[in-house]
Amino acid sequence: MTMLKLQHIMSNEIAKRSFLSRPPEPPASVLLSDPFQSIYIGTTKIFKVPFTWSFLNLTNPHIAVVGITGSGKSYFVKTLLIRASYVWNTNAVIIDWAGEYRAWVKQTGGVVVALGKGDYLNIMDLSGMRPIDRAKQILTSLEILTDIAQYPEQKRLTQEAIENAYSGAGFDLAEKPASGLGAPTLSDVVVLLQTKLQEGTYQYPAELENAIYRLRQFAREGEDYFARPSTLDLGKLVESGLVDIDLSSLPDERFRALAALFILQTLKEQMRSEGWSETKGLKAIVVLDEAWKVASDEKSDAITIVREGRKYQFGLIVASQNPTDINEAIFSNVGTNFILRIKFERFMNYIQGSLNFSDFIRNEISKFGVGQAAVEMAFQTSLRFPETFILERIHGEEPLYVYVIDLSDILVQSEIAANVLTREYQFEKDELKNKLIEYNVSSEAIDGMFASMDRNQRSMKILELVRNLSSMNVSISNIVSFLKSMSIEDTLITRIIASSGVEHG
Ligand SMILES: Nc1ncnc2c1ncn2[C@@H]1O[C@H](COP(=O)(O)OP(=O)(O)OP(=O)(O)O)[C@@H](O)[C@H]1O
Ligand SMILES: [Mg+2]
Repeated sequence: MTMLKLQHIMSNEIAKRSFLSRPPEPPASVLLSDPFQSIYIGTTKIFKVPFTWSFLNLTNPHIAVVGITGSGKSYFVKTLLIRASYVWNTNAVIIDWAGEYRAWVKQTGGVVVALGKGDYLNIMDLSGMRPIDRAKQILTSLEILTDIAQYPEQKRLTQEAIENAYSGAGFDLAEKPASGLGAPTLSDVVVLLQTKLQEGTYQYPAELENAIYRLRQFAREGEDYFARPSTLDLGKLVESGLVDIDLSSLPDERFRALAALFILQTLKEQMRSEGWSETKGLKAIVVLDEAWKVASDEKSDAITIVREGRKYQFGLIVASQNPTDINEAIFSNVGTNFILRIKFERFMNYIQGSLNFSDFIRNEISKFGVGQAAVEMAFQTSLRFPETFILERIHGEEPLYVYVIDLSDILVQSEIAANVLTREYQFEKDELKNKLIEYNVSSEAIDGMFASMDRNQRSMKILELVRNLSSMNVSISNIVSFLKSMSIEDTLITRIIASSGVEHG
């Protein structure tokens, strides 16, 4: 025991010393690249050096962004996309899970594709690919999203029917498509399978029935978002400026994932077939925000793209609240990681395990406010400086008004000293406002609260907040869920409610 303790103290000492003798941030020459070939992001925390991001000396242009809700992931992505379009004329395709970029894209004059709301994607579209290759890709997507991998005969039947649908529409399976031919759809494939079943000659009708059932989920009338001719030209996707593929109106996660996988496959093929040309800059940035299975499944093209690295002329940005939704291969292979505020230990362990940053950085990450980030970059040559550093804040295009909910009035001195519980929660003005609106607080009451916070350096003590909410007739259970949504620990919530006296008032 004593030995261990001693060792612990010693390694702490060593850590401190090396922190002093080695620079805690990369040198300015690395942080600050040629302004015509890089994007300004913000200033570093310790030496206040402006940091401009460029992929030119990194292993690849791909980026992972993680952080809790409200930490600033989407804000960062928007900032990056806008500036990349200035610097490199970069196009962007946003695979928008929750529809959160839609309004912004419209505002900036981009194109919104609303799947499930009038727009369709035919996942059998070839955009220059050979039908046999597309058929394989469709099977891969089905393997990620359904149980088809467990049923080899059903898989075979499905693949065969897809290929037959292409042949039936006049395509040569092993040839790149001649122009002018219209691609078949999944509905055609279902019809082929049904015809085979009705013929009654196939040996295992149950297998056939199950294969039909599985495919029909994506071709049913009203849910045939991927089984009708596409309403957008996939060949032009990466040349259309800013494109938002809004998936939020699709009925469930599987439909969203199918769309995301399909788009990634298509883009990857386009980039492959066009080949790497030695133009500088990024042709396109593809954003996967909250990508769930698309970023976690080993078979997904998100992982292939990140692994194969530089040869694609597009940068993939994967953003998520839940780092465990992102395959470790992505963290350890992307050229840049942006880590915004992380709260849960489990998530922190996962990221620290993948990226190997110090406990110093870990501690900083857990205390981040909105827009603060740790940045980790993988340089092509190994250099002798820390590869993870902290940004004071991501400097976006809009000003930030941060409001603080201060918990110090209910924490006891020892808790504050031990630094185990979060002392304050920061919110951007609109974010806090929206939360209050969600709990039916009237707009006059909200204005009143902000006025009182403005008089108090934009902050409010937690007990005052709870009493305010209660006086505006927000029920106790709503106050509790409000506090939960701020990610305050349950035991602390009990204490806050008890100390506020609202239960009896
Ligand atoms: N660096 C920043 N500077 C100024 N404002 C910021 C910054 N980062 C975020 N914000 C503001 O904070 C709010 C939340 O940010 P954002 O929507 O980017 O969070 P998020 O991490 O994408 O959350 P979610 O996971 O819920 O999508 C927004 O109102 C945004 O404008
Ligand atoms: Mg977001």
